[in-house]
Amino acid sequence: MPPTTVAAPLDLPCGTTLKNRLVKASTGEGLATASWGPSNQHLDLYRRWADGGAGLVITGAVMVDGEHRADPDSVVVTDDRHLEKLRAWATAGTANDTELWMQIDHPGRQSPRSINKFPVAPSAVPMSGRIARYFGEPRELTVSDIEMLVWRFGYTALIARETGFTGVQIQAGHGNLISEFLSPASNLRTDEYGGDLDGRMRVLLDVYRAVREQVGESFPVSVKINATDGIPGGFAEDESLEVAKKLSEIGVDVIEISGGTYVEPLMQGDEFDATGATGQIFFGDHARRVHEAIDTPVMVTGGFRCAADVEKGLDEGMGDLIGMARPMVLIPELANEIIVHGNRERVRLPRLTTHLNSLDDVTESLVGTAWYQMQMDRITDGRSIGGDGLAALRAVAKRHGMRSFFPRRK
Ligand SMILES: Cc1cc2nc3c(=O)[nH]c(=O)nc-3n(C[C@H](O)[C@H](O)[C@H](O)COP(=O)(O)O)c2cc1C
Repeated sequence: MPPTTVAAPLDLPCGTTLKNRLVKASTGEGLATASWGPSNQHLDLYRRWADGGAGLVITGAVMVDGEHRADPDSVVVTDDRHLEKLRAWATAGTANDTELWMQIDHPGRQSPRSINKFPVAPSAVPMSGRIARYFGEPRELTVSDIEMLVWRFGYTALIARETGFTGVQIQAGHGNLISEFLSPASNLRTDEYGGDLDGRMRVLLDVYRAVREQVGESFPVSVKINATDGIPGGFAEDESLEVAKKLSEIGVDVIEISGGTYVEPLMQGDEFDATGATGQIFFGDHARRVHEAIDTPVMVTGGFRCAADVEKGLDEGMGDLIGMARPMVLIPELANEIIVHGNRERVRLPRLTTHLNSLDDVTESLVGTAWYQMQMDRITDGRSIGGDGLAALRAVAKRHGMRSFFPRRK
């Protein structure tokens, strides 16, 4: 077969066609209104991305439960409160024949202490490592809690469809709730939702079925899974492959491969190795293994920085779709640059520092996320990239409260 070009359309099992192979991967915007609805800034930001040329744009994680949020300013969709604004968001983001899929998510124990004193998880296993102090100790979910949560995912997906989003993505990676169910390191349950891989993937399959039942067969449903948690005794490649095979069997339209959790943030990669060289694609080998094993379209995200990386990913069979997150925050029209203008320049991510060594260690992922959220904010009113790590740290303090840097256990 001739190599797939980045400009080639892709037909999905549900019947939708994506206009090309570049995807703006999910990045939580931190731009919600005080009542956790989409803001005018969402409209501006997603209009820019839609005009930017990617075939598919996936929203930042939208919460299925307002009590359990990943971020102080995450959008929450649980009822009919924000329908008009959701419609306007979907209209802006689907301009230019862009597919706009809502990522639906529950953070599980990764809901920060600053906004959630009572997180929930498959088992009462707290976060570990230096980041642990930013999170409360989780309560183990009961079976009826789980059934309610499964229903919530389906309901949020239905609202997404009804308000004009053209697909949904279930977040089952990055250490959030469904990912915690999949991982033997965080799921110690002995009932039907724990134990062997069949038990640990039950919640994911139930969520998928609940979503599919609400949105119907002809609506795209994607699942994002980890290649690995990166934690000894956690979820790893062989199990990830088995989960992908099962998802393919039951009709998922796109499986996205990423990896890591807040404890071990592999999804951020290591942009700068000891020699200062860059150029790692984070989960390419595993994505290739998954792609070879199943017919369902595979998307791989993490580390793609230029046209040559994208071509390598497609030519070497790492997937049918290439996801880019931070590069498309820095350059919203990157897809057009690559596909239409033949731009082959590498996007260089800045090395962020707060200039405070003691804080850099602990807050690396917080500051990194906040800095990219600052850039999404700047895009909405036409400002260029700006601000340093310290400005991002100030933004974290403003949103989570200064005390969140020095939390006490109780
Ligand atoms: C500011 C920011 C927010 C993110 N939010 C999400 C999210 O809500 N859901 C998700 O699945 N991944 C999220 N990610 C991870 C990205 O989707 C992606 O997996 C990661 O950035 C690696 O891709 P990249 O190297 O192209 O940036 C986020 C990343 C950043 C930088």
